[in-house]
Amino acid sequence: MLSWDDFNSDAPIKTFKPQDIPAPARQEAIQQEVQKAVGLEQQTNLDQQASLEQQTSPEQQTNLEQQAEPTQQVTPETETVAEVSPVAAAAPLATTSPTPAPTPTPKTAAVEIDPNLSPLERAKASLEALDIEAAAAELEMGAARIEVDDKAMINCRADLNQLVPFKYEWAWQKYLDGCANHWMPQEINMTADVATWKSEDGLSADERLIVERSLGYFSTADSLVANNLALAVYRLITNPEARQYLLRQAFEEAIHTHAYQYCVESPAMDEGEVFNMYRELPSIAKKAAWSLKYTHSLSDPTFNTGTPETDQELLRNLIAFYCVTEGIFFYCGFTQILSMGRRNKMTGVAEQFQYILRDESMHLNFGVDVINQIKLENPQLWTEQFQQEVIQMILEGTELEIAYARDSMPRGVLGMNAAMMEEYLHFIANRRLNQLGLSEQYPGAQNPFPWMSEMMDLRKEKNFFETRVIEYQTGGALSWD
Ligand SMILES: [Fe+2]
Ligand SMILES: [Fe+2]
Repeated sequence: MLSWDDFNSDAPIKTFKPQDIPAPARQEAIQQEVQKAVGLEQQTNLDQQASLEQQTSPEQQTNLEQQAEPTQQVTPETETVAEVSPVAAAAPLATTSPTPAPTPTPKTAAVEIDPNLSPLERAKASLEALDIEAAAAELEMGAARIEVDDKAMINCRADLNQLVPFKYEWAWQKYLDGCANHWMPQEINMTADVATWKSEDGLSADERLIVERSLGYFSTADSLVANNLALAVYRLITNPEARQYLLRQAFEEAIHTHAYQYCVESPAMDEGEVFNMYRELPSIAKKAAWSLKYTHSLSDPTFNTGTPETDQELLRNLIAFYCVTEGIFFYCGFTQILSMGRRNKMTGVAEQFQYILRDESMHLNFGVDVINQIKLENPQLWTEQFQQEVIQMILEGTELEIAYARDSMPRGVLGMNAAMMEEYLHFIANRRLNQLGLSEQYPGAQNPFPWMSEMMDLRKEKNFFETRVIEYQTGGALSWD
């Protein structure tokens, strides 16, 4: 069985092959690897649940169990109250206690209506019982109109249901740009890729390794990013125009996960092998585990910002995901696959990656702008000690990506090798540090792949690999002529 330390040795890369293990023991072996790799996430969840059960009264326990029933999920109304209410955003600012809050009773269940009434009579009775005062208080009816100066990126107490007036025009513009770049994976012609993949001499063994490793990492990585946005970041960013972009980004992450699935499905690759790589391959699992670590504390429903420590915890998460996961962990795989496309191999997969890279470079830029905005509004958070911690995070990410480069590229291939990729990743790390206002840690690092910047600047009129069926244009105004 591999341990993560095996990967750090100079010995030849050993690959964990589930088929080498007898079937009954395989599942257990994989589970052990996963638990080691991803920080016992499932166990933590179970522990949290067990802890909750111990701390709740039998009555609350019944409520919890009812909530666990698929048919008893929290109503959209209750969810809205919890997510965006200015009261909810303001009140628990200092609440970091691990004690779980009592389970709220759904408001819709508070009104008792005679079940023998007709549906229309029940609807009228429910409306008559509607607590207008409570709703009005929540929406701050009659309060002064929101001014730009009331808005802030975090810890804002102004009503988050109202988009305008904009404070951060750049966030709104990125939302518009993201929509204008809309694309879907099925629009890209994968015919040539199917033929190449199925042909015995279509790709060398090293080229196949790169395709499989890239899809193995990315098919999970974009889900990690999407989950981090939805479960951790969204509710803590207290600005509606920035949230608008977060919603757009979350959908783009879903499109990316779709694209990877499409790339695996089209040439009938081994789905089980590709989609389980993040559990079975140390160089991939380590990257996933590193990112997941930063989702954990923020996804706790009792977590909130409002103290220097919790605000810094949010910054850590944003830096871990925008600057390292999307800003470093994606770059070896992107460069390898796009280099393959430039050599006219797997051009459909490369085209998908090119569109994803364009989206990702915007995600990165948005994240950097949010981080720098938070720094500007809360300069006390950006202490010397915290800056050193951020530099270390960037360097950890760079080292993990270099290890991935060595693992996925044991020999020179596609005009590149692991040493060139290391130089490129040093160059990328310097860029990330610069973007955050920190000093470069790899003096003099050069970019051995200058063509990558062209790839990021994909223009609509240019279709690099010419595999896309149509050029997708959205965001234009409707014409009524
Ligand atoms: Fe993505
Ligand atoms: Fe992304």
